[in-house]
Amino acid sequence: MKKKVTVFGSFVVDLMSRTPHLPVPGETVKGSMFKMGPGGKGFNQGVAAHKAGADMTMITKLGRDAFANVALDAMKELNMDTSHIFYSDAVETGTALILVDENTSQNEIVVVLGACDTIDEADIASVEDVIKNSQYLLTQLETNVSATERVIDIAHQNGVKVILNTAPVQPVGDEVLAKVYLITPNEVEAEILTGICVDSEENAKKAADWFFAKGVQNVIITLGSRGVYVATAEKQAIMPAYRVDAVDTTGAGDAFNGGLVAALAEGKDIWEACRFANALAAIAVQRLGTTPAMPTRKEIDEFLAVHEKNVG
Ligand code: ATP
Ligand code: RIB
Repeated sequence: MKKKVTVFGSFVVDLMSRTPHLPVPGETVKGSMFKMGPGGKGFNQGVAAHKAGADMTMITKLGRDAFANVALDAMKELNMDTSHIFYSDAVETGTALILVDENTSQNEIVVVLGACDTIDEADIASVEDVIKNSQYLLTQLETNVSATERVIDIAHQNGVKVILNTAPVQPVGDEVLAKVYLITPNEVEAEILTGICVDSEENAKKAADWFFAKGVQNVIITLGSRGVYVATAEKQAIMPAYRVDAVDTTGAGDAFNGGLVAALAEGKDIWEACRFANALAAIAVQRLGTTPAMPTRKEIDEFLAVHEKNVG
């Protein structure tokens, strides 16, 4: 049976340029392409989960401006529920300036959170029941910290499993970590949070043990094209990524997290869920953009059927 998922996090409008190389300070580079579209880690993850088939409620905050319509139009097109969106009268919708090197696929991002940096107690009070009635809460670190901490607290108090994607990385208190069911840092975030450089499977285990000691129940460290390191109380292992030709890895982590929560909510175990999430992310990295790169459930199932053996 499908279980209810709530995704709490940022919406921003992504303003993406592809460029022959990333400019050094003071340099102007002629870009080869510009694309504007919905983004933000929370929104990307929410859309990924929704398109993967989750019964998902999206909670985010917009301004009262034209950029807000980028979110609302996308949600309408995807048949997503817009009734748990907050609005700021004073602060505009967030934006992200994204530069992608068309040769290496490396990116540089400046995100201005705007309205998503102003989520207050009253906003959260209005969605308390939605969170309480979920089986999973998926959130990140791209809204104001006070709001993230508050939704995690509500979820934890009500037996809702908290999945915390630690992007963009910033310190996370021990009292927050103790409420986390599953944490999903990438290698860099894992190192910043634990102080352990994740340069081998042995060190990934040490980083996972550090999280376990803080009370986190399960750890998944994403390793880019190498896949994910998964640690539960019973077992630790690397689940390799699918071999594909990536053109834009911006939002790969979001694709993975959205797929992960959708699969867990369907009752898949953590290993099956990682396989599904790796597939979703492998499709997304072959497409340009963030939210618009997220595949449908049909595309994921077809990919899994075809690429069953094409890992590692
Ligand atoms: P971003 O910050 O760009 O959103 P991230 O650093 O949070 O990404 P990664 O660890 O780079 O996340 O990637 C997340 C997942 O996406 C990987 O675990 C893998 O499943 C998939 N992935 C990323 N890059 C590739 C690739 N080149 N080929 C196949 N799968 C990939
Ligand atoms: O993870 C990718 C996202 O991070 C982009 O959509 C951009 O909005 C940034 O916040």
